[in-house]
Amino acid sequence: MSELHVVLGATGAIGAAVVAELTDRGHRVRAVSRNGGDPDGFKADVATTEGAVAACEGADVVYQCAQPPYAGWTERFPGLVDAVLTGVEAAGAKLVMADNLYVYGPVDGPMTEDHPYEAAYPKGRVRAEIDRLILRAHDSGRIRAALGRASDYYGPGGVATILGPNVFAAAVEGRTIRWVGDLDQPHTVSYLPDIAAALATLGEHDHADGRAWHLPAADAVTGREFLALVRAAAGGSPRSAGLGRGAERLIGLFNPTVRELAETRYQRDRPFVVDDSAFREAFGPVQVTPHEDGVSATLDWYRHRR
Ligand SMILES: NC(=O)c1ccc[n+]([C@@H]2O[C@H](COP(=O)([O-])OP(=O)(O)OC[C@H]3O[C@@H](n4cnc5c(N)ncnc54)[C@H](OP(=O)(O)O)[C@@H]3O)[C@@H](O)[C@H]2O)c1
Repeated sequence: MSELHVVLGATGAIGAAVVAELTDRGHRVRAVSRNGGDPDGFKADVATTEGAVAACEGADVVYQCAQPPYAGWTERFPGLVDAVLTGVEAAGAKLVMADNLYVYGPVDGPMTEDHPYEAAYPKGRVRAEIDRLILRAHDSGRIRAALGRASDYYGPGGVATILGPNVFAAAVEGRTIRWVGDLDQPHTVSYLPDIAAALATLGEHDHADGRAWHLPAADAVTGREFLALVRAAAGGSPRSAGLGRGAERLIGLFNPTVRELAETRYQRDRPFVVDDSAFREAFGPVQVTPHEDGVSATLDWYRHRR
């Protein structure tokens, strides 16, 4: 029997992309979420030990792409990861964590994986706690693990992200497209299929184990450049605008989702650039999707999703 790759959070944006990538690579895949998704989906609540153990049973590699709601991270995320570690250990599997870049806090210059965990805000601290939990479990020999860190993503299926509703949904609905943050700061933006391909690569290679990797992405762009690509691809020249610090704060007074983003404003009003050279050197050559192509594919998905 071929290796079993289990994707937790398989109906989410990254999870669904990982399921598609692993399936394309010919792996046997189990797609796990609480609602099960399509009829082939596996239903389990991986925030419980029983659910995580059932979900991971028989797995060779487990991709941790499940997350509690954003506002509930500090209370619920470490417990979910703890249960997942128990499930991965019981299966004797390897864990690949779909991670983000919150652990570092504000960084001068491109972020590298050896930067210390200096995040001093609640969601950054909780991500650092989670990553330490996972790396300790690896170092102590409980499990094998690799962490794959991506920046803000966009792509087909990418709805619960800062770019989904504000840029792509707005473009196909003829609304003003808005970049949340300073329009002129360079920002690494990750494309969902590229994230999925890189996570699958981490799952397939033993020499990925025991550390975090920055997942390859196209060169950083400014918000102004990214919105220009969207306008060009959308046709009809939708109006575009930046949503600066003041406006974000004002909207946050009555919009809880925007209010939750306040802690991470440093990511959007200064350069936020990822150095992905370690991954490219270890696993390359790597092809990433040019933003022109990613933007077109994402707009197509948004046009046809209703
Ligand atoms: N947003 C970004 O730009 C970004 C960038 C880089 C990294 N990341 C990180 O990547 C990870 C995945 O993010 P995402 O945006 O793909 O997530 P998402 O779209 O919110 O999907 C979350 C998935 O987890 C499942 N889930 C939630 N609680 C569960 C539970 N207790 N048991 C089983 N399944 C559960 C959900 O399905 P059910 O509700 O049906 O269970 C869903 O399939 C997160 O850690 C996120 O922080 C995000």
